[in-house]
Amino acid sequence: MTTPRPAHHAAPPLDCPAHAGARTVERLYGPEFAADPMASYTRLRAHGSVAPVEIAPGVRASLVIGYDTALEVLRSPERFSKDPRRWRALADGTVPADSPVVPMMAYRPNALWTDGDDHSRLRGAITDSLGRVDPDALMRHVEHSADTLIDRIGPKGRADLLHEYGAVLPLLVFNELFGCPPATGDKLVEGMSGIFDADAGSEKANAVLAEGVAELVALKRAEPGPDVTSWLMAHPAGLTDEEMSHQLVVLLGVGTEPQLNLICNGLRLLLSDDRFAGDLARGTMPVEDAIDEVLWTDPPMANYAVHYPIHDQELDGTLVCEGEPILISLAAANTDPGLSGERRTGNRAHLAWSAGPHTCPAKGPARVIAAVALEKLLDRLPNIELEIPVEKLEWRQGPFHRALAGLPVRFPPISRRV
Ligand code: HEM
Repeated sequence: MTTPRPAHHAAPPLDCPAHAGARTVERLYGPEFAADPMASYTRLRAHGSVAPVEIAPGVRASLVIGYDTALEVLRSPERFSKDPRRWRALADGTVPADSPVVPMMAYRPNALWTDGDDHSRLRGAITDSLGRVDPDALMRHVEHSADTLIDRIGPKGRADLLHEYGAVLPLLVFNELFGCPPATGDKLVEGMSGIFDADAGSEKANAVLAEGVAELVALKRAEPGPDVTSWLMAHPAGLTDEEMSHQLVVLLGVGTEPQLNLICNGLRLLLSDDRFAGDLARGTMPVEDAIDEVLWTDPPMANYAVHYPIHDQELDGTLVCEGEPILISLAAANTDPGLSGERRTGNRAHLAWSAGPHTCPAKGPARVIAAVALEKLLDRLPNIELEIPVEKLEWRQGPFHRALAGLPVRFPPISRRV
């Protein structure tokens, strides 16, 4: 399908990647992409560092797959805007409002989708409020939550770690940090997980999510407490209820789904790769190394950091057009063959947290949560193993995340702690 262009773009430049016309365009959705995204990235490298892709049926975007070019976009807010109201194909109806990718890309007045002073104000409120979280209390809470979950699965001798551990732990942590009662928390996670899948259920999931955040905002206006939600409300930025809801959605979105995927992708690596499995048997736990490796090779947000060129311009020799979405493939940029081993090994220059003004403001806590989750599990279930061969594990579909669909394991049963 050829994307119609607004009148003042009557003669579309042939090499504008998002307008690759009838040429075969790599699809970042469907079972094939989910099963082997690296094969897609490898094919895409033939285009250079910017390539045309389809992220949902009929939804075109440019994908940045080169590391240096990714940094160029992420660090040039004067050339590339985060504001999705610039997305022409959505504004003119070429992309329908009910497209499965819209909930993850549409404008909301939050830190993720704003530029300049608006962004600074919203991000400032978030970083100040997250900064008030006591790191020791966070660690204790993650340990306690992990122990509670391991107590539940331990006597059974088998578990699906995705549903019974990785998905629940970030939720327990979020509920604690944000002062969220469990019933409201369930709605938040059901909604958020639905929109990350970017499928036909996204719109309904969006509605469930909106209901959950509105409940939380109303609760904290009535009864503030020592929690991030209440600190955000009390921040001098003076967020309105609507702004509060939108910041909570983004905090929940980035605070639970990617967190779950970091935990599960880390466990998958630790349980399947001989380099790590050998160490586990010897009683050492190279959890930090496994986390680093996942952040390089299987980052939880695989293709995101959406930007819109402010004007038509060249990006590493490719023309990118005003108002066409550019996604950064954090996964492909990290594995760019042009990135020398020296820049890759042992440092944390990967882009899993993105970079530039919108870089994740919670890298520290997010890493602590993942490390404690992995260490606790391996410590209490040292003989844990995958129940099926690693290559049989399935991945959830969708262009944005790198997310397992399940993580079945077995282990010698243990009794609950007393
Ligand atoms: C493993 C877990 C996490 C990963 C992999 C991750 C990754 C990311 C990435 C890639 C972005 C940039 C997105 C973009 O530019 O489009 C981002 C932004 C953000 N993250 Fe994280 N994140 C994680 C956990 C968290 C947690 C726990 C929180 C807070 C509770 C958080 C809060 C945020 C916020 C507020 C932004 C938007 C910042 C802005 O636009 O200025 N993240 N995160």
